[in-house]
Amino acid sequence: MHVVLLSGSPSARSRSELLLGRVRERLEARQVETSLLRVRDFSAEDLLHARFDSPAVQHLQTLIASADGLVVSTPVYKASFAGALKVLLDLLPERALAHKVVLPLASAGSQAHLLAVDYALKPVLAALKAQELLAGVFATDGQIAYPDGGLPARFDEELGARLDEATEQLLAALARRPRPLEAHLLNERLATARWSI
Ligand SMILES: Cc1cc2nc3c(=O)[nH]c(=O)nc-3n(C[C@H](O)[C@H](O)[C@H](O)COP(=O)(O)O)c2cc1C
Repeated sequence: MHVVLLSGSPSARSRSELLLGRVRERLEARQVETSLLRVRDFSAEDLLHARFDSPAVQHLQTLIASADGLVVSTPVYKASFAGALKVLLDLLPERALAHKVVLPLASAGSQAHLLAVDYALKPVLAALKAQELLAGVFATDGQIAYPDGGLPARFDEELGARLDEATEQLLAALARRPRPLEAHLLNERLATARWSI
């Protein structure tokens, strides 16, 4: 099982990425392979000039194509998800999330834009044909403390519980996910099928 983790924050000290880190830890503890990519690691030229053929964008496309699931985290910016993340998602092929389970995570300054994931990010993930979109986790800055003085990142108890519950739901969705039939197997099955009326 392989899950891609995509951090959509342009910030180096990112709270939304800490949410991703917690989910990653729990997934790896359950022997799920993970790959972390950050929007800020892509060059601005690749993003702003929509360079579909850049090696970094091709790598992202290949990684997502081979993954079973995607966890995407974003800060809320101006009542929506981060524009840099949108620019990156625009570089994915049309059905990039077909057959994949997707878990969105968001952090924000306040509860005011609690629905930003539902009305802004989820429609984009659905347009990429995500097979199953999980409910997602929304957190406010006050619930997340940066790693400090050797201490790891800290989450308030209620948020930690919601993140762990979302990870369990992701694992369950991955386990029941129907696998796409590979083209050569489909051909073989059609060729050897016995038809009766
Ligand atoms: C440019 C900008 C716009 C923001 N817009 C909002 C907003 O509309 N609503 C909100 O609740 N928080 C807003 N915030 C606060 C961030 O969503 C919040 O601090 C978030 O946790 C940052 O995530 P990050 O550390 O992963 O970048 C904004 C922050 C910035 C820098």
